[in-house]
Amino acid sequence: MQTMKDQSFDALVEQFLGMRLPQQMAGAVSLSELPPYAQGFTMRMLKLMKRSGYSVTEFNPALIRWLSASIPSMLPDAWGGRIPPITLPNRHSKLDAYVSNRNMAVGNDPHIFVDMGCGFPPVTTADTARKFPDWQIYGVDRSFADFVLYDKDGHYACFDQKGVFQYFQALMNLSGRALYADPEATGKRFNKLFADLFPLLRDTDGTASETVEKDGNKLIHNHIRDFETDNLTLIKSDIMELELEPAKVIRCMNVLVYFKPEIRKTILSQVGELLDEDGILIAGLNGLGLQSRYAVYQKGADGIFPTEFAFSLDNLGHLVFMPWFTIHEDDPEGMLLAELSGAIRATRSFWPEFGNRIDELLQDQDICRRGTDGFLHFPENDMPFDEYMKKNALLWRQMEDEGYADRVVDVLGRAGYDAWKNPVGDIAVRPPANSLPLCKRN
Ligand SMILES: C[S@@+](CC[C@H](N)C(=O)[O-])C[C@H]1O[C@@H](n2cnc3c(N)ncnc32)[C@H](O)[C@@H]1O
Repeated sequence: MQTMKDQSFDALVEQFLGMRLPQQMAGAVSLSELPPYAQGFTMRMLKLMKRSGYSVTEFNPALIRWLSASIPSMLPDAWGGRIPPITLPNRHSKLDAYVSNRNMAVGNDPHIFVDMGCGFPPVTTADTARKFPDWQIYGVDRSFADFVLYDKDGHYACFDQKGVFQYFQALMNLSGRALYADPEATGKRFNKLFADLFPLLRDTDGTASETVEKDGNKLIHNHIRDFETDNLTLIKSDIMELELEPAKVIRCMNVLVYFKPEIRKTILSQVGELLDEDGILIAGLNGLGLQSRYAVYQKGADGIFPTEFAFSLDNLGHLVFMPWFTIHEDDPEGMLLAELSGAIRATRSFWPEFGNRIDELLQDQDICRRGTDGFLHFPENDMPFDEYMKKNALLWRQMEDEGYADRVVDVLGRAGYDAWKNPVGDIAVRPPANSLPLCKRN
């Protein structure tokens, strides 16, 4: 039997999307050189693309680079099986706005908000604590690194109690890309910096935060302590072992995707136990705060059930990654998003015009342009990442201003979904039966 390894990437693309890629793109991915977990990722990605009615001409060099360079270093297998604590400031500001919009009346005691699997450093939990000064916020994670080393360029690495290198996170600029291109060399480089800085610490047994600095590089011991404030408590615990008072809001973002659907259900049931009777759980995924998908669960008589599945309009763009990000087969939210995108792409009175408008705006912003071969082409020199992010944000604001999110809601309604635009402007549907897990009490 022919294995995936024997096939060329291009042949797989043709098998799933019906056409081959231009040689330049096809040649940029060698399946056999990808680690097995990245090969599995590629297969799931193509299945989701097919389900969403994704056209091969939406494939583009940025996606190819993500697949061949970023994905192999982002998945748990690249980190010895450990779920990486990847997080970023402001990543969940839209979800904070979603919660704020619900206007939950404050009683005598402050409301409780739990950020489950908050990541490290817990910057999104700190954002939430600042946004809701009258609430009590908890950040929960099973692993908080003991030492964090920020290099002079702002890339950072985490080390455990014994000074063993665990993980690095680089900024998405040119020097950051170079770090991801050779993770082994990057690990060695951070280990060397750690060895230089560690002897400067005065109290390596203490529990207080201590920072030492040399040549612009900074080592912080017990960094977690720097985040705690009057309304923010950080708890090192596995979700399955956590005991807390009932929470009005639980946010569990970029966590469940790492678990197989059956285990995910068990975790969701446990999280449901920690929810107040009128509380909500928001669980899902986004990348850099973009291309988000999430479900909102409420408590019922015998467990929790999903009342809303929402996604941001930018999931329908040409230069997207997150709709294809899964770690296990049959990721429920990934599949539902693909089903909805498929219904949208199949609407001939909407999709071609929508796609053409994105093309026009990509060209206006000098991001890329569609060539006579029908594919997107990028300028020779890479646009700095920050500039790209700004332009991308402008593009999607423009698409929303032009009413495209409302039109997608309308398209989904005509396709038979109970759809609406939620208060933060995302496209929401009542989850179709059996699309997302119902989590019954044990
Ligand atoms: C990718 S990070 C996401 C961080 C943050 N929620 C965000 O969206 O930016 C996933 C985090 O979940 C934590 N995690 C995974 N499974 C967990 C569990 N069962 N209990 C507690 N934390 C868990 C990992 O340690 C990791 O820090």
